[in-house]
Parts: sequence; structure tokens; C-alpha cells
Amino acid sequence: MKLLMSVVVLMYVVAAEDVMSPTLDIISEIKKIKTMEEKLNALYDEFRELRSKNEVHTEVKNLMNSLSSAVSALNDAVLNTNPFFSQLTSRTRNKLKQNDCWKSSIQTDQQNKQRDFESLSSSLSALKSSVSDLTSSVASLSSKQQTSDAPVTCKSGWISYKSSCFFFSSNALNWTEARDYCKAQGALLLKIQDDDREWAFLNHHTIPTSYWVGLTDQTTDQWRWVDDTPYTMNKERWNPGQPDDWKLGEEREDCGVITNTGKLNDGHCYIKFRFICRVQF
Ligand SMILES: *[C@@H]1O[C@H](CO)[C@@H](O)[C@H](O)[C@H]1NC(C)=O
Repeated sequence: MKLLMSVVVLMYVVAAEDVMSPTLDIISEIKKIKTMEEKLNALYDEFRELRSKNEVHTEVKNLMNSLSSAVSALNDAVLNTNPFFSQLTSRTRNKLKQNDCWKSSIQTDQQNKQRDFESLSSSLSALKSSVSDLTSSVASLSSKQQTSDAPVTCKSGWISYKSSCFFFSSNALNWTEARDYCKAQGALLLKIQDDDREWAFLNHHTIPTSYWVGLTDQTTDQWRWVDDTPYTMNKERWNPGQPDDWKLGEEREDCGVITNTGKLNDGHCYIKFRFICRVQF
């Protein structure tokens, strides 16, 4: 804000130059222009500082616009100064000669300012493109996080872990009822990734109680998840010797349960156990 105020002040000074009287001493005019140039350089330095601090690019853009106006007003002022040279009398021509170096130095300044302006413009477009690169990488990063590990907010009674919500029931149902309950909640009876950290999280909440999970070989004789995706057998997740499809009367053990040991077993689907639902985002 302070910066923009000084730009406004500078532009006011530049505007005042337009109405200056031809009788004014040329040296003082040149001094004024020099002063303006110093102010402009100070602004330029502030701009560079701002850029290095990675400030919001709209502020930089506003500053650029103000700088651009200030530079063109300054150029006008320099051009307006030139007619004074031709209006001077011969008496003052010697003085003018002395001032020729000033004149050429003004021209050089003008050229320098043009160069500064151009380099400022290209810095700005470079800055713009790095800002947009940065914006898109931040966006892609945050969307990646959301689809992987970003913690989610879960409804009350559900536990958030990575990008999932888990429900560890306190009531017991048979496997079919548990499956249907989860489904009614917009969830699935637990489907597990074969991941040590996920298992550690689960066991932290299950041991020493047994919970139904969304595994069954009831219909196909192949273990599948409730969403009908195939289960890849990893015996290390099962209690020793399980699953054994143990038969009691006519009933085989067709449904997956995390037992009190924290490992899987196949159980009779009609038994009532607690159960785990999961919503994965
Ligand atoms: C689960 O319980 C319901 C309701 O009592 C019953 O209809 C269903 O057959 C049971 N499922 C199993 C697999 O025993």
C-alpha cells in the first residue's frame, strides 16, 4: 500500500512537470527529472524486493501498471524539456553547450528506463508463469493428497483413518445382517488392503473382540470381498490352519471374521458378531 501511495505521489510530481514555465532554469528541470528517476529506481528496487518475497501477483501487476504509467509520464516530461533548448538565446548557447552532456545523459537515462521497463515486463511475465506453474502444482498435489492419505471428516460414531471412515459396531449381527447394515449406511462390510499399517490400526480397535469383515466364499467357493472383487490369499493374516471351511452339520464356515487374536478366521455366517463398516473416499 505504501508502495502504491508513493507511485501516486510520483505521478502527481510528473503531472506537475507538464505545466512548468519555459522560464524556469533548465538545470533545475533536469534536477527534478533526476529526482524522479531516483524515485523510479527506488520503486523498481521495491518491486524487486516484492518479487523476491513472492508477494501476491495481482499486487505486483498493479505496481507494474503504475510503474508503466510513471515511466511514460517521465518520458513525456523529458520530451517536453527538449523545446527549451531551441528557445534559448545565443547568449545562453554556451551554457547550452555545457549542458549537452546533460542532454545526452537524459537520453541515456531515457533509454535505460526503457530497458528497465522491458526487463521489468519480462520479469513480470516470467513471474506470472511461475505463479501459474506453482498454482497448478499445488492443485495437483492437494488433489493427489485427497485421493490418497488426506484425513477425512467422519460422521459421529465413525473413526477416520487415512481417506476412510470406519464403524466398529457395539452390537452383534449375523454376517448377512452386518453386510446389509453397512450397505444401508452407504458403506461396505470391511474390505481390507493388505497393508501392515492398516492392520495395526484395525487391531488397535478390535483386539480382544471378534468382528465380521466383508469376506465370504459362500457363493463361489473362492474368497471374495462383498463388492465381489477377488481376495488374494495371505495366510499370515489368518489364524494358524485357517481358513479350514470347518463343517458343523450342514453348515460350512463361509464368512470372514477378525478374531480376538487380531487375525482372520472363517466362521459360520449365522453367528452373531460385532462388525466393521468402511466408507472409502
Ligand atoms: C441373519 O439373520 C436374519 C434375520 O434373523 C435371517 O433372516 C438370516 O437368514 C440370517 N442369516 C444367516 C446367514 O444366518
